[in-house]
Amino acid sequence: MVSKLLALDAYPNLRDLDFRILRGVELNMRNHRWVPLEDISRFARVDVETASFKLGRLDNWGLVVRRSDIGYIGYQLTIHGYDALAIRALSRKGVVEAISSTQIGVGKDADVYAGISPSGEKIAVKFNRVGGRTASRKASYHGDVFQDKHHTSWLYVSRLIAKKEHEALTLLSPIARVPRSIAWNRHVVVMEFIHGTELANLREADLTGEEADEILSKVLNEYLKIVRFGIVHSDLSEFNVTITDDGDVLIIDWAQHITTDRPESYELLKRDLTVLLNAFRRKWHVDREFEEVWPAFEEAWKRSRGE
Ligand SMILES: Nc1ncnc2c1ncn2[C@@H]1O[C@H](COP(=O)(O)OP(=O)(O)OP(=O)(O)O)[C@@H](O)[C@H]1O
Ligand SMILES: [Mg+2]
Repeated sequence: MVSKLLALDAYPNLRDLDFRILRGVELNMRNHRWVPLEDISRFARVDVETASFKLGRLDNWGLVVRRSDIGYIGYQLTIHGYDALAIRALSRKGVVEAISSTQIGVGKDADVYAGISPSGEKIAVKFNRVGGRTASRKASYHGDVFQDKHHTSWLYVSRLIAKKEHEALTLLSPIARVPRSIAWNRHVVVMEFIHGTELANLREADLTGEEADEILSKVLNEYLKIVRFGIVHSDLSEFNVTITDDGDVLIIDWAQHITTDRPESYELLKRDLTVLLNAFRRKWHVDREFEEVWPAFEEAWKRSRGE
């Protein structure tokens, strides 16, 4: 489902005080399910009436939600409010100049939009949506993230996922073909824009068997370098491989990666390769057996662990 970046509609109307109020809601959500109006007004350094008026407008724009049946008046940040805070921070840091409200990538757990950096470079801005539409599935994927913190709010988790992806991209871009990460803030990662097509979007007729075979070799080659380095993707599929316009191959979507020092990375690596090989076999009849590719990957996996 393509979704519009709603925060952008409200964004031009937002003033410093609105951002202070949003930030007051955000910070106090660490301690409150519903943040009391008084706490927000204190944080934003305005009287309660002004805070209440401003929050009413933010509510109309969908950036916060209000509740009054809990014994007091309380507010929560919505994902759109969180988006607005992240966009503001990235703009102030000089990372993002503009974002298009038309979605470029419809992922499982993220919305990706095209943007422009202040120097005119085209960028991809990825907003994590965990806790919104796919909380339960993502919660199982990111079991590690959920476990080591009692506080399992979507704010916290979607932020950790963005940080995790930024870190993987930063480590991997010098050694393999992955998008270069430019910055991250809250639940958002800003990266270099890749002009290309997802492998999943290519039809059978788009590639000859030989071309498909060559692409598969390139993907395996990139992935082998990455495993040797000590990282397993753990969500590798035809949806997370991009073929650029000049035939280059990039592996994207590193939010779920796991390091090879974790023993469960062994089975995840096997699954990644199986899924990938199946995709090429199904669509382009590329006949590459798991047993054929596994020894090199197993060796890389072991070596990365110092075994
Ligand atoms: N750097 C980029 N440049 C251009 N398009 C991109 C870029 N990153 C992602 N996209 C597009 O957005 C889609 C979704 O991105 P991605 O696969 O990273 O997220 P996802 O599947 O929703 O996520 P995740 O599992 O990380 O939550 C991609 O399939 C691709 O079409
Ligand atoms: Mg994806």
